[in-house]
Amino acid sequence: HQVVMVLDSIDTPHYSSVSAATALKNSILLKRTDPKREVSLLFRRLGADLDRRTIREARDVGVRFVKYNGRGRPQVTDEMVEVYDQLRGEELSIPYDLVVLAMPLVPREDAVKISLMLRTPLDGNGFFLEPNVRLRPQNYVRDGIFVCGSAHYPVDVQESIFQAHRAAAKAVRYLSDGKVDSDTPSAIVLESLCTGCGTCVEACPFLAIAMEEREGTLSISRIDPLLCKRCGNCAVVCPAKAIVMEPYTDRELIAQISAALAAPRDGEPRILGLMCEWSGYAAADLAGAEGLQYPGNLRIIRVGCSARFDLYHILWAFLNGADGVLLGACEPGMCHYVEGNQYAEDRVEMLQQMLKGAGFDPRRLRLQWFKPDDARKFVEAIKDFTDEIEYLEPTDLE
Ligand code: FES
Repeated sequence: HQVVMVLDSIDTPHYSSVSAATALKNSILLKRTDPKREVSLLFRRLGADLDRRTIREARDVGVRFVKYNGRGRPQVTDEMVEVYDQLRGEELSIPYDLVVLAMPLVPREDAVKISLMLRTPLDGNGFFLEPNVRLRPQNYVRDGIFVCGSAHYPVDVQESIFQAHRAAAKAVRYLSDGKVDSDTPSAIVLESLCTGCGTCVEACPFLAIAMEEREGTLSISRIDPLLCKRCGNCAVVCPAKAIVMEPYTDRELIAQISAALAAPRDGEPRILGLMCEWSGYAAADLAGAEGLQYPGNLRIIRVGCSARFDLYHILWAFLNGADGVLLGACEPGMCHYVEGNQYAEDRVEMLQQMLKGAGFDPRRLRLQWFKPDDARKFVEAIKDFTDEIEYLEPTDLE
């Protein structure tokens, strides 16, 4: 009897360790119940998280491992499975009595609906995204929402149970207190300026803003300080500038930009880096710690998220002598405030169009994705941007 077990039988960008572990376990069982049985395990990847002892056991009982890739998937004909074995470097024709397709775990289709309902982002594979917050695993972007088990990546039963215990323990902490205290400042609405347009309500990724009645109409926005995560997007979109964000108020940011560009020119292009602290700023910090050299003409201003930068912060920088502005943001899907980097991308594109219309070279403004731990990419990006700016024709923003 010949059994061929095929892993990764459908294309998924993610690796499903649960399916691999199950296929491995079943292969061992098949061999143990009948040592004469030929069992072949065809795989594309076997993750480092698999138990090495189980892999050794499978090998010891005689499971044949066949790594396929590159030259295509195994082909199942009436009597044979044809496959190119990368490990041995040869074409194999394996006779079979049974072919087992070990299906990978995939996200549920309705995850999208739940994600939209709860405003909890999904990753590129369709699983619920665990925010890329250093040393803060299992915390979701919205307080009070916990995701466990295979909702956020394929995990086995033990891991699911562990995560469920952890989520329950966190939820109990909220429930047993009976109240939630917050000592961090939130965005504040200046009532005298608020026109009640509701733009901020739409822009808040955390559903922290609602319209309230004022003189009989829904005409003032209220920010729930417990839900507000201070991404700053509401302050940027508010057309009346009626929302104040601390500690990065507009006044402070403008003052910082002016101060950064106040030094006399030294012949080098003056580059202003407006950096999200989770990505560009962290990468700059790391570059400094690792002693990497980058052009000294860069001045960095840090905020909580790239969504906090307003178009007029950037214009102010150009009007005050910046030769180039580099907006540093988290990579797509990695923003700690759900979609702040997408807002930033849209704003940069819009401003580039406006600059072009005004006869100002839009290449002087660039949005760059950064990873916090990629100091080298940070250095390369700064050098590349500085080089480009150096060769641009001088243009003035009137
Ligand atoms: Fe980095 Fe939003 S947190 S771009």
